Amino acid sequence: MEKLIPAVNKLQDVFGQLGLDSPVDLPQIMVVGSQSSGKSSVLEAFVGRDFLPRGSGIVTRRPTIVQMIQTKPDKLKGEQEEVDKTVEKKGKQQEDETGKDTKYGDEWVEFLHIPNKRFYDFEQVRQEIEAETDRTTGKNKGISPKPINLKVYSPNVVDLTVVDLPGLTKVPVGDQPDDIEKLIRAMIMSYIERPNAIVLAVHPANADLATSDALQMAKSVDPEGDRTIGVITKLDLMDKGTDALEWLQGKVYKLKRGYVGVVNRSQADINSHKTIQEAREAEKRFFKEHPVYKNFADQMGSEYLAKKLSGLLMDHIRKCLPDLRTKINSQLKEKQKELLKLGSALGDNEDIGAALLSIINHYAMEFNQALEGKAHEVISA
Ligand code: GDP
Ligand code: NA
Ligand code: MG
Repeated sequence: MEKLIPAVNKLQDVFGQLGLDSPVDLPQIMVVGSQSSGKSSVLEAFVGRDFLPRGSGIVTRRPTIVQMIQTKPDKLKGEQEEVDKTVEKKGKQQEDETGKDTKYGDEWVEFLHIPNKRFYDFEQVRQEIEAETDRTTGKNKGISPKPINLKVYSPNVVDLTVVDLPGLTKVPVGDQPDDIEKLIRAMIMSYIERPNAIVLAVHPANADLATSDALQMAKSVDPEGDRTIGVITKLDLMDKGTDALEWLQGKVYKLKRGYVGVVNRSQADINSHKTIQEAREAEKRFFKEHPVYKNFADQMGSEYLAKKLSGLLMDHIRKCLPDLRTKINSQLKEKQKELLKLGSALGDNEDIGAALLSIINHYAMEFNQALEGKAHEVISA
């Protein structure tokens, strides 16, 4: 994300200064895979925060649409102060209890179904997702296509939307209807067939890749593989002496954008409250020390997945450039017209008009430089 964040920021700044809406409609990232393949874990590692319900069995039972919104701390400070005060006391208490350096006020979550409430505690976010799931589906493993919408505000994210989808399952349990498989398939399809979707097809290393529903579904909506990335989870759970190298290299099933192998937290790690940071370190160690993967360690793991995604998103931005140019040029012409009118209203004061025009031209130049710079970065990345 190191390159993507400044690129998107730059574009947004320039557009903001010109009074235009967000310049690029970034793709939505859909996480698809069978039940318990590690979808929610992958998504969390990518967002960098711990807030999704995870675990064995069907945990994600409604699509969870997570919209990340980048905050600019200095700008929002004033507006934030009042809220910060009210949570300060509570925040301090929790800091003491967990011994963790949790910064309240910097990152928070809002749910569409609970207007005007900020959640600063991500454990409460998880609980609310669970409670809201039950409100629609009942407690007994029912599923619903009705999404849960939440926004994550943070200075450390880009304005990107990720969607956690219920996993594919074959045998109905609890309150699930007999045609559960068909229902979930249809639900997933309605999300991944959107041309603006990037599909993370998640498959656990301890199950045969040939049985991957995720890859099969991704292929049906994206036959060329332009917007699919394969993610192999649970590499740590493979039988001793076996590895997933052939899959990861695309020798079993070729994917244009390739595969990334990851090691997320195990259930034991979750139970013992292992942090995302600790998990990342353990993941790095795993790959560095593995007899086979160590030779490819720089192309493995959650960080590399984030990088790869970032590259895909930069590609997308680059594809949008011609449209963006057209948009900004027409907007500039409008502004120039307005200024000319303003000039005559001010009594033909050409100096004022000229000065304003030069400011706008400066923005235009900055904008074009931003675009060119970013296009260059993508190519040389
Ligand atoms: P989902 O149902 O596809 O969303 O899967 P979850 O993310 O909820 O994970 C299901 C279970 O698998 C949880 O207990 C996770 O801790 C565990 N899990 C996920 N990824 C890995 C992994 O890479 N290694 C290990 N050992 N466990 C994992
Ligand atoms: Na699960
Ligand atoms: Mg899940």
